[in-house]
Amino acid sequence: MCGIVGATTRAHNTTPILLEGLQRLEYRGYDSAGLALLVPAGEGRTRLTRVRATGKVEALHTALGDTPLKGYLGIAHTRWATHGVPAEHNAHPHISDGLALVHNGIIENHDTLRRRLESEGFVFTSDTDTEVIAHLIAWHDRHSPDRITAFRKALQDLKGAYAIALIHEDDPDTLYCARMGSPLVIGVAESGHFVASDPLALLSVTDQFIYLEEGDMASLTPTERQIWRACGNPAILPVQRYEYADHSLDKGEYRHYMLKEIHEQPRAIADTLEGLLGEDRVFTAILGPDAEQALSKVRNIHIVACGTSYHAGLVARYWIEEHAGIPCQVEVASEYRYRRVMTPPDTLLVVISQSGETADTLAALRHANRDNLLGSLALCNVPGSSLTREANWRLLTRAGPEIGVASTKAFTTQLTALLWLTCALIQSRQPGQGGTPVTVDLVHALRSLPQAVADSLTLAPQIETLAARFAETRHALFLGRGAHYPVAMEGALKLKEISYIHAEAYAAGELKHGPLALVDQHMPVISVAPSNSLLDKLKSNLQEVRARGGQLIVFGCEQAGQESGEGIEWLTMPAVDPLIAPIAHTVPLQLLSYEVALVKGTDVDKPRNLAKSVTVE
Ligand code: G6P
Repeated sequence: MCGIVGATTRAHNTTPILLEGLQRLEYRGYDSAGLALLVPAGEGRTRLTRVRATGKVEALHTALGDTPLKGYLGIAHTRWATHGVPAEHNAHPHISDGLALVHNGIIENHDTLRRRLESEGFVFTSDTDTEVIAHLIAWHDRHSPDRITAFRKALQDLKGAYAIALIHEDDPDTLYCARMGSPLVIGVAESGHFVASDPLALLSVTDQFIYLEEGDMASLTPTERQIWRACGNPAILPVQRYEYADHSLDKGEYRHYMLKEIHEQPRAIADTLEGLLGEDRVFTAILGPDAEQALSKVRNIHIVACGTSYHAGLVARYWIEEHAGIPCQVEVASEYRYRRVMTPPDTLLVVISQSGETADTLAALRHANRDNLLGSLALCNVPGSSLTREANWRLLTRAGPEIGVASTKAFTTQLTALLWLTCALIQSRQPGQGGTPVTVDLVHALRSLPQAVADSLTLAPQIETLAARFAETRHALFLGRGAHYPVAMEGALKLKEISYIHAEAYAAGELKHGPLALVDQHMPVISVAPSNSLLDKLKSNLQEVRARGGQLIVFGCEQAGQESGEGIEWLTMPAVDPLIAPIAHTVPLQLLSYEVALVKGTDVDKPRNLAKSVTVE
């Protein structure tokens, strides 16, 4: 999704800062880029200058040419098209009456505003909703005593979501910004003030950030900052150190971020569990005030999320209902937010998100039926993100920044945290300090998790060889049973996302009810077959595929007593505690999608049409 960077600095040329920031935001997904700067024009005057280009940030570098612009105040943007095709005239910044503006989000009443502004004589040069904001502020500027009043009044006219950064040629050192529904942080440094959609964009200049709240607006100069609430009251917000500032953001020895992130999983899981496990119990104080007491009252759970995070929720449902005996419903946020949801008494709402900024998940949290809600728990990978600030309680996964669009370590750390939550729920129902047989087993299993995931990674060379078979593949089926059904769904999603192969996942028992009709020698059927009570049933389903000439690839356990042969490639997984098998079995599916994407020659880290952080609906 769109990315914003802005800078107002004391005697530092902002162009390299803006370009590096854009490059650091590339992972979010975009189709064009642009920047605007106040460039010195002699006699103390400045001139607003804009450069835009379609395609990668590299194209913007090229458009800037050999003599890049120099200036102390500037804004920059990567655009992910929503209103208007990816084209230079639609790229941000948009300008009006000496101001330049970048925007992330969607303005829902842009049509009405556009008509109003056109009747006032404003001429539109793009198809975007963003240009409406630029002209609207310009209009208010003509009718307001000062720019900040004009900015506030314009924001009051907007319906929808926005993060905005704005400069004006009459204010040579002031950077204005505001947020409502889309993320924006202020970076604070000796050299000046900065804004960005994500702290990652600014880590080369600062690790100190102010997280704006919904409706906040700010005026920043290199040395001063003023922040106001939407109502106009001044706000003082804390400056916080970014927790992941020490994490390396380059690919290191790896060819792609995705591969690096797959291999980081044992460490990410260990970091997520740090300080959460006792001898035979889990420590729940980490969740925040009153959470421990609230957990004991939970009688229902609603889990809401999108994409990969939704799959994590689906796995957790099996754990929570099986081990904690608590009814659990899981739903995609884009549905949950728009329907009448029946919330039984003492329901805990769990929202899961890697980024903590996904528009639908945030909206689901905000619009949840509060009648019977005990409270909300955000399970999130980004400290300080909107979701963590708006939920009652929070549980942070410690995966570190995830750059690959296809989520890997975020998923397995979410599963880790959800299994931990299952244990916390069981424990909260047991009086006394000692563990129960179930919590003892769960704590033991959680402890063994980093090693189990490291063991799964040893299948990498076999998977690399296997991937060559997918060179001509256009469709694939994934099968699983129990908690491994959503693992199969996640495997199919990964393959779809980065190799563009049409992949579907089915609960293996559903095979006969439709998908079996698709099976022939051209259809790889990939399955995860852990050692559990459903193994024999799954094996029967696999035979059904084999009998119809299907090409089976099975990541199975030793206990199945199966070997590779005609129509079946059996890869034996290292032995693993069944409680954590869904997490261990996720890893080979991640590796398979990665290796197949290499065979297909796709852009692994930035697959077409997708965005890492989906901050619009
Ligand atoms: C996008 C990403 C997915 C992610 C989903 C939900 O579609 O490409 O990888 O699973 O958003 O994101 P979240 O940050 O809420 O987990």
